[in-house]
Amino acid sequence: MKIIESKNYLKMSHTACQILAEQIGQNPKIKLGLATGSTPIGLYNRLIHLNKKKEISFQKVTTFNLDEYVGLPATHPNSYHYFMRENFFQHIDINEANTHIPNGMAYDLEKECIRYQQVIETAGGMDIQVLGLGENGHIGFNEPGTSFSEETHIISLEKSTREANARFFDNIDQVPKKAITVGINTIMQSKQVILLISGETKAEAYNRLVNGGITETFPASILQKHKNCIVLVDQETTFQI
Ligand code: GLP
Repeated sequence: MKIIESKNYLKMSHTACQILAEQIGQNPKIKLGLATGSTPIGLYNRLIHLNKKKEISFQKVTTFNLDEYVGLPATHPNSYHYFMRENFFQHIDINEANTHIPNGMAYDLEKECIRYQQVIETAGGMDIQVLGLGENGHIGFNEPGTSFSEETHIISLEKSTREANARFFDNIDQVPKKAITVGINTIMQSKQVILLISGETKAEAYNRLVNGGITETFPASILQKHKNCIVLVDQETTFQI
C-alpha cells in the first residue's frame, strides 16, 4: 500500500481526483468501481467540476457501485441508487446504461448477486476501485468475518455499521439490516484500488489498517496484499494516532 497523507479533506479529494482524471484521460473506456458514504463526495464534486469544464469525459466510462441496501427502492433518498444519482451521475455526461448498482429490491436476492457478479466479470472487472473505510474496517459492506474469497453476496449489517449510518435516516430502526455488496475477492481483482480515509472517527481503523495484521476480522487489512493500492488519508485521521 502506498500512503499519501493530505492536510485536509479537500486536498485529499483533490489528490484522488487527479489520480482518477489522469487515468480517465488515458483510458476513456475505463471501468470504475465506485463507493458511497460521505468520504468520496469531495472526489465526486471535483470530478463533476472537471467534467463541466470539459477536461474529462465520462461518455465511455462504465461504473460499478459496490453495494446497495436491501429493501430500499432507487427512489428512496437513502438508497445508494439515489445517492449516486444525486451526488454524481446526474451532474456528469455519463451514459446511464453504463452505470451499475446492485438491485436491493430484487425478488430473488441470491439471483441478483449472481447477475451482478456476471455483469462485472463480463466487463472484465474494474480498472480502479474507489473505496471508503467503515469504522469497523469494512470495505463496501463486507463486514468483519467476511471471507476474503467472497464475490457479490448478501450481508447482514453489524449493529455498529447501522449505528454509524443511522445519521442519514430518521432513526436506527429505519436503517436496513441487510445489503448486497461486491465481495472482497472481486475488489482485490481490481487493477488499482484507491482507499479514501478522512476524519477522526476513522483513526482507529486507519491505525489497524497500517499497523495490524491481515485478518478477516478486519476486512480492509487484505488491501496490504494488493499490488497497486493507494491509501489517501487526511490529517484529521492521522493526527489522532
Ligand atoms: C458505508 C458504505 C461504505 C463506506 C462506509 C464509510 O457503510 N457501504 O462503502 O465506505 O459507509 O462511510 P463514510 O464515508 O460515510 O464514513
